[in-house]
Amino acid sequence: MRAVVCRELGPPSLLVVEDRPDPKPGPGTVVVVVEAAGVNYVDALFIEGRYQIKPALPFTPGSEIAGTVTAVGPGVDTVAVGDRVLASTGLGGFATHAVVPAGSLFAVPESLDGPRAATFTQSYCTALFALRERGGLAAGETVLVLGGGGGVGLATVDVAVALGANVIAAASSAAKRAAAVEAGAFAVIDTAGEDLKVRARELAGGSGVDVVLDPVGGQLAEPALRALGDGGRYLVIGFASGTIPSLPLNQVLLRNRAVVGVDWGAWAMGHPDAQASLMTELLAMAGAGRLDPVAPATFGLGGVAEALGSLTGRRAVGKVALVP
Ligand SMILES: NC(=O)c1ccc[n+]([C@@H]2O[C@H](COP(=O)([O-])OP(=O)(O)OC[C@H]3O[C@@H](n4cnc5c(N)ncnc54)[C@H](OP(=O)(O)O)[C@@H]3O)[C@@H](O)[C@H]2O)c1
Repeated sequence: MRAVVCRELGPPSLLVVEDRPDPKPGPGTVVVVVEAAGVNYVDALFIEGRYQIKPALPFTPGSEIAGTVTAVGPGVDTVAVGDRVLASTGLGGFATHAVVPAGSLFAVPESLDGPRAATFTQSYCTALFALRERGGLAAGETVLVLGGGGGVGLATVDVAVALGANVIAAASSAAKRAAAVEAGAFAVIDTAGEDLKVRARELAGGSGVDVVLDPVGGQLAEPALRALGDGGRYLVIGFASGTIPSLPLNQVLLRNRAVVGVDWGAWAMGHPDAQASLMTELLAMAGAGRLDPVAPATFGLGGVAEALGSLTGRRAVGKVALVP
């Protein structure tokens, strides 16, 4: 097998691609030949040693995969050789083969090809968990999605539209705004040139938006908070801009707004049954055509530094995947 290996912590340029012995499945696990692996911000944090979990060196990054089961270990009766599956791996996904616990696998609906399936879990689970479980989104409400052309952003546009919401996407480039419109946003805001608060309120009919979903942080946060109407909810997802914003609490008090933290990863680990239900629901929606994930940009294993750089360099439109 071939695998991307992190031998020393640092920038993606230090990653190497190496030959490794083909893996064999242990009890309760399967070997998956990887069709595609999702590339996420968290992978960049892992290899730079900036994530809260610090794996021992050397390690293979890669936290989500899709592929085909080629061998099953003792005691596995829930999947069989030949099944197309996707899984959250935490680590080990940037490789031609991965060993995965059988209990963590989900069947891939026919509507999702390898790259779409591999990049589905983190972005779509975050979107649905945030909008519905944390944000209490109702059909007919208006959602403002910051970073609306990014990975979480485009998934959120797709999920919010499927839940019957009206979506405004804010993004810095024409390509990202076009992708958000394609995904179902009824309007877009150019964060590089327009006044976010004024434009969002106008687009929401003057009364303000009901929900803000923010994976970006930084200087967009306060105008987005001020764009919320009565009872509006501000969903804190992440800080891709690199700046954790401070928000004036008077703006939370006014109009009975709420600022709500969203930590899907911690929730999923603490509530595995609820997480499995969330995934089953999302995959059923995708299988029925109610969700339509945008095709990710793809790179080979040797393009891992470029793939990670497209995320950290703000160039990626939607998701990014490695296709070994
Ligand atoms: N809380 C959770 O449960 C959870 C779950 C998944 C991900 N996350 C976090 O959410 C954040 C976004 O993830 P993502 O997958 O959507 O990332 P992404 O695809 O890279 O999108 C992030 C967006 O942030 C904006 N941005 C602004 N300044 C940036 C900068 N200096 N570098 C990079 N992007 C910048 C960009 O949009 P514009 O160019 O339009 O500004 C970009 O499209 C990450 O911090 C991730 O760790 C949190």
